[in-house]
Amino acid sequence: MCGIVGYVGEGDAGQILVKGLKRLEYRGYDSAGVALMNGEMLIQKGKGKVINLEKNLVASKITGKIGIGHTRWATHGEPNDINYHPHLSESGKIALVHNGIIENYTSLRKKLIERGRTFKSQTDTEIIAQLLEEIFTTSDISFEEALQLTLKQVVGTYGLAIVNIDEPERVYVARKGSPLLLGIGDGEMFIASDASPIVEYTNKVIYLDDGEMAIVTKDDYQVKTIEDVKLTKEIHELAMGIEEIEKAGYPHFMLKEIFEQPRSIADCLRGRLNTSDSTIQLGGLVNVMEELVSANRIVIAACGTSWHSGLVGEYLFEYLAKTPVEVEYASEFRYRDPLIGKGDVLLVISQSGETADTLAALREAKAKGATVLGICNVVGSTISRETDAGVFTHAGPEIGVASTKAFTAQVAVLTMMAIQLGQAKGHIDNARAAELINELDSIPKKVEHILNESDESIQEMAKLFTYAPNFLYLGRTYNFPVALEGALKLKEISYIHAEGYPAAEMKHGPIALIDDMMPVVVIAATDHTNDKMISNIEEVKARKGRIISIMNDGNSDVKDLSNFCVNIPSTIDCFTPLLTVIPLQLLSYYIAVNRGCNVDQPRNLAKSVTVE
Ligand code: G6P
Repeated sequence: MCGIVGYVGEGDAGQILVKGLKRLEYRGYDSAGVALMNGEMLIQKGKGKVINLEKNLVASKITGKIGIGHTRWATHGEPNDINYHPHLSESGKIALVHNGIIENYTSLRKKLIERGRTFKSQTDTEIIAQLLEEIFTTSDISFEEALQLTLKQVVGTYGLAIVNIDEPERVYVARKGSPLLLGIGDGEMFIASDASPIVEYTNKVIYLDDGEMAIVTKDDYQVKTIEDVKLTKEIHELAMGIEEIEKAGYPHFMLKEIFEQPRSIADCLRGRLNTSDSTIQLGGLVNVMEELVSANRIVIAACGTSWHSGLVGEYLFEYLAKTPVEVEYASEFRYRDPLIGKGDVLLVISQSGETADTLAALREAKAKGATVLGICNVVGSTISRETDAGVFTHAGPEIGVASTKAFTAQVAVLTMMAIQLGQAKGHIDNARAAELINELDSIPKKVEHILNESDESIQEMAKLFTYAPNFLYLGRTYNFPVALEGALKLKEISYIHAEGYPAAEMKHGPIALIDDMMPVVVIAATDHTNDKMISNIEEVKARKGRIISIMNDGNSDVKDLSNFCVNIPSTIDCFTPLLTVIPLQLLSYYIAVNRGCNVDQPRNLAKSVTVE
């Protein structure tokens, strides 16, 4: 969603901001803009991609050494030049960019209009600039105090970067519910909503927490609470490198990330699987193992693809650890006064660690006394900092909006957690543990095999289905969530309508849609449901549906019934999602490319959904 960058230093702020905004493109947006201070307040905006802003900036020849920039994903007010950020106060002296939503903006706006202020945009953001100016100019207080008073009046969420032409050396920032971090350079300072625009300049960062603000100059920063309590913040070192956020020769980030999976899964497992003594060591869970072992149940809350990995987790925890699991959409969980408390574990799963609904679910369960654990990819993210304990997926930065390597890493973590818990609860003996751990260790090689063996054939197959209007995905047990994930991938990036179903449920509705135009992707990894799955395939075939099977090498029954097959190596049943999802990712990728879609930044979608 919306992204923020800021710069204070001696460099060309315009160029640095544009480059930073390009790094944030992956979050999803529909316009971009910057404010530069150079004796006067200079604003430049551009519709659509950052490149348009860049062209406008070059044409206008404006420069400066201090500024703020924004990519906007429209919430209040249609995408047009007036609503794009930065927004100005009425006098034009204050400019700001904002991520989040101000909920009481209508009543605040009404009051300010009554007092004679005129508003230009339909956004909730403009109210902050206007209210700040009103408070600052009508009382004898500093700009900083005026900002604190403003923030006490607004209700909602914000990540804010603000410049005031009367203080041309400073950028003010504040955070509540929308991430912000400061990058500490040598004689220059950076501000961003995530680390990707900063990583090429410095690896020293400070994460702001909710209720905090900072005053940033080129060689200093002061962090305090909105209540004016000065804070000494820990300086973190970023682990990611610049190469991780570049395409490395691939045409799209998504394809790069699909092909990275042998490595990202191996990185996720590394140091945690111990094949010599058949144990699993998840450092982040050591202090909560007792709570996990004695948990009445685990409730998993997540959104999107992370919710799908949670569904795989349900099968894994129940099968391997015999712990009851419920999987919830975070947005539903948080608003229905959930029955959760002491003795329960809430496990939130989030690639970004910033998804607003998932964060709210976490806070809700924590307030009710549950132990709150997290599986996150982004180190330093809000969710990872607010959970009691958790496990990082270590998949590396995921830039493609459609999640791929984060999904497999999440499933890998869930698998390790379930095995470890199963061992701790006495449901998995040493021999079984050895079998599971050795096989899990071999998964990265098997993923590599699938990528090498099936990439070309899937590319060919995709040509035949490029213009299919609908797709159906069917799976059973562990691969029912994979069917959901396959359908989600396709609709996200190719805009083809696709649905995932438990194969047996097909008879209760989707079968009515099947005719010779309907591709049906069947995830038929051989397991105890193989015979049932074959019956379902027969049912599709009888209605002339076109069957694409993801199946184990040598499953001739499935092969004979299918129009197209993608082979996957055999593995233990509960590990199959780590393999079966790979061909589905490739299929959706190639179909989307054939349709000329913007694979990495699909329309209307955001990588990190920081509003509810
Ligand atoms: C957005 C993204 C999805 C992602 C979901 C949850 O919808 O486009 O790819 O699965 O948010 O995000 P999270 O960061 O919490 O995993």
